[in-house]
Amino acid sequence: MGGSVGVRPLPFTFAAHVLAAAAAVMVLVWNIHFRGGLAFESSNKNLIFNVHPVLMIIGFIIMGSEAIMSYKSFPWSREVNKMVHLILHAIALVLGAFGIYFAFKNHNESGIANLYSLHSWVGLGTICLYGIQWIFGFVTYFFPGAQPSVRRNVLPLHVFFGLFVYILAIANAELGFLEKLTFLESTGLPKYGPEAFLVNFTALVVILLGVTVVISAATPAHTEDSLSYSAI
Ligand code: HEM
Ligand code: HEM
Repeated sequence: MGGSVGVRPLPFTFAAHVLAAAAAVMVLVWNIHFRGGLAFESSNKNLIFNVHPVLMIIGFIIMGSEAIMSYKSFPWSREVNKMVHLILHAIALVLGAFGIYFAFKNHNESGIANLYSLHSWVGLGTICLYGIQWIFGFVTYFFPGAQPSVRRNVLPLHVFFGLFVYILAIANAELGFLEKLTFLESTGLPKYGPEAFLVNFTALVVILLGVTVVISAATPAHTEDSLSYSAI
């Protein structure tokens, strides 16, 4: 670790913020302009479904991305960044669970079966693992907080599993885009039409977002303090 690696997080966190903003705009344009809008209650059950991708991308993936990058993208102290990390992950978890609720709500009110797809199984698994990761992180690094030696030894596992669940979430969002676009194309949506391109490009932007977030997490952070985890 340390400065010798020569890779700085800044270009990657910067790119990630730009890609996150682009993904947010694209998923909103798709669901509001092309798919007819968002609704919590409606006789048009498609509008209830539309809340699902919007909350999963903006609420879960983007909040989770910003949470992971908090140590790299903000100039504050480690203590403050840790609070930001913890709170943004909690928001991602809650909005993600809420987003899944809208997928179930749409299915239940439309008489469609639940949990029949790979996307839905991996999705439920992902949100459960995310919750477990959050609880372990909270207990180890916040309250009650483990011994310094335990914190230090557990950190590589925390980072590894954190990135693993994050990549799983990105992959599952890809399955979701693919599934929805395949449904739409099999019921007549033009395969080379503007909406199909928008959905596929949104999914590409989400992959690039994942790549930049994972690289930024892999870059060394703390120049003076890289061998001492005492502040963790
Ligand atoms: C990581 C983010 C995501 C997670 C954790 C997730 C999770 C889920 C879950 C658990 C279901 C099952 C609902 C049920 O059985 O009633 C579901 C359904 C669905 N999701 Fe997602 N989702 C995510 C992102 C997306 C995205 C970005 C799209 C893009 C449109 C999408 C499209 C769908 C579709 C079409 C369904 C209904 C068909 C099915 O159950 O497979 N999802 N999602
Ligand atoms: C699902 C929830 C969580 C995920 C996915 C996650 C993921 C990560 C990742 C990927 C890193 C590495 C960041 C980097 O080195 O740039 C990290 C670092 C860290 N996380 Fe988490 N985390 C989660 C929840 C928590 C919680 C609740 C806490 C409690 C305070 C916490 C405390 C920490 C600490 C102390 C570090 C070390 C930062 C440093 O190097 O100074 N995490 N986490």
